[in-house]
Amino acid sequence: MGIKEDGHIWKKKKQLARRDVLKITTWTIGGLISAGLGLPAVAYIVGPALKQDGEQDWLRVGSTAKVEIGNPTLFKVRLTRRAGWITTEEQIAAYMLTEDGRDYIAMSNICTHLGCRVRWIPEREQFFSPCHNGIFDKQGRVVSGPPPRPLDRYEIKIENDQIYIGRLHKVGEA
Ligand code: FES
Repeated sequence: MGIKEDGHIWKKKKQLARRDVLKITTWTIGGLISAGLGLPAVAYIVGPALKQDGEQDWLRVGSTAKVEIGNPTLFKVRLTRRAGWITTEEQIAAYMLTEDGRDYIAMSNICTHLGCRVRWIPEREQFFSPCHNGIFDKQGRVVSGPPPRPLDRYEIKIENDQIYIGRLHKVGEA
């Protein structure tokens, strides 16, 4: 191998090394950009799924001053849910009941038979489900008709005279 050939090989090696450095640099920068863009997106999508049990979102529905003592009072509130890229709007409606202005219960207005909306009939002191004539008493217990169980209830808390509702649960379940 002559000097000329050696020089040629050395030049080629140098070019390869430069190319490798360029490649590594490009991959590194690309990787950093992808991580910068990708990680928040992954966190955004996966975050809700990773939410711990026991964490709970409370929804403010209104003032305790609006609840008539001894008379279930309907509150409606719009709820925006975000799951990843999907945002949905939902209207939540619940009947609040207090007999003494201190302890409150929050009942779903969805009939436990097939999901029709129940209405409070003050003259009869009963909830009425118009679809199949289901009737519930003031506390949401079944009086007659096909509903298999009482009206579901929301967890409830009062802070500064504002009512907040949490998870919906079947009566008798935590
Ligand atoms: S949906 Fe209420 S009685 Fe059927």
